[in-house]
Amino acid sequence: MWRHKLADLEQTALAAIQAAATPDALEKVRVEILGRKGSLAAVSREMGKIPPEERAAVGKRLNAVKDAVESALEAKQTQFARAALNARLDAEWVDLTLPSPGAPAGSLHPVTQIQSEIEDLFESMGFVVLDGPEVETEYYNFDALNIPPDHPARDMQDTFWMKDGNLLRTHTSPVQVRGMERLGPPLRMIAPGRVFRNESVDASHEHTFYQLEGMMVDREVSVAHLLYFMKTLLQGIFHREVAVRLRPGFFPFVEPGFELDIQCLICGGKGCPVCKQSGWVELLPCGLVHPNVLRFGGIDPDQWNGFAFGLGLTRLVMMRYGIDDIRLLQGGDLRFLKQF
Ligand code: PHE
Repeated sequence: MWRHKLADLEQTALAAIQAAATPDALEKVRVEILGRKGSLAAVSREMGKIPPEERAAVGKRLNAVKDAVESALEAKQTQFARAALNARLDAEWVDLTLPSPGAPAGSLHPVTQIQSEIEDLFESMGFVVLDGPEVETEYYNFDALNIPPDHPARDMQDTFWMKDGNLLRTHTSPVQVRGMERLGPPLRMIAPGRVFRNESVDASHEHTFYQLEGMMVDREVSVAHLLYFMKTLLQGIFHREVAVRLRPGFFPFVEPGFELDIQCLICGGKGCPVCKQSGWVELLPCGLVHPNVLRFGGIDPDQWNGFAFGLGLTRLVMMRYGIDDIRLLQGGDLRFLKQF
């Protein structure tokens, strides 16, 4: 009779443990069986009613049931714990063998890229790269370039004037004079940099853009030398034949002066907003250095002469990549910049 009852109890308990679907349900089952008011405790309390000669055997059997229930509980708890751990591992799983996406890297601005290419090209031909201030004096920006105070050329370049009488340089040509003063003849220099003009902004005009000035001073420099270097420059940049034309151009600091135009690479010469429908783009104003400018630079024009050019770097970048709006270059739009 006791044997029977205990076997029943064991069977029900083990079945309930097996059936528990969650840790909470299992804990409830545990309390129902092993708790102070649980079914095993109830049996223990009735031990007194058992005839003394059977007590030892029943006690032994009771302990065996208790052990069986406890190990079943433990097994089930372990099973739940393992399942929880597996779920967490699945959720947190990382494939350490996957290649890393790498740190996000920026890129050089297209103007910077083309600038360093041209620097490399000219350095390979013996030119030095010079820097000049963006806030210039009237002297270096105008006077020393043979542009007298009342000269109409000052109106050609709408200038941002500072309150103290200095100005934002309107071109990189002031570095010519600084270069001559600093290095003397013979001289081969380029000077890339930012220039500023008080202009209304549209697809082909910016108040801030980049030029690259070049100057060579030596004995008996001619237009042929100038053309040689300009052709080498264009070939180095475009890696192909680019149609060019030379027009007379007026700049007080050169004599003779030229405008070197290239055929518009955006429309192929058909006409577009960048070339103002003309099919040609002014890219390289240039000429032989005016004797007065050499004098301002401390160089004797009877002994030396030279050529100079002022390359529109910003425009060059637009031609090279087919960019039809100059405002994109300084707009800071990452969708634009990430393409380079
Ligand atoms: N400084 C001139 C400009 O900005 C360009 C130029 C440079 C022309 C050198 C001739 C020689 O327009």
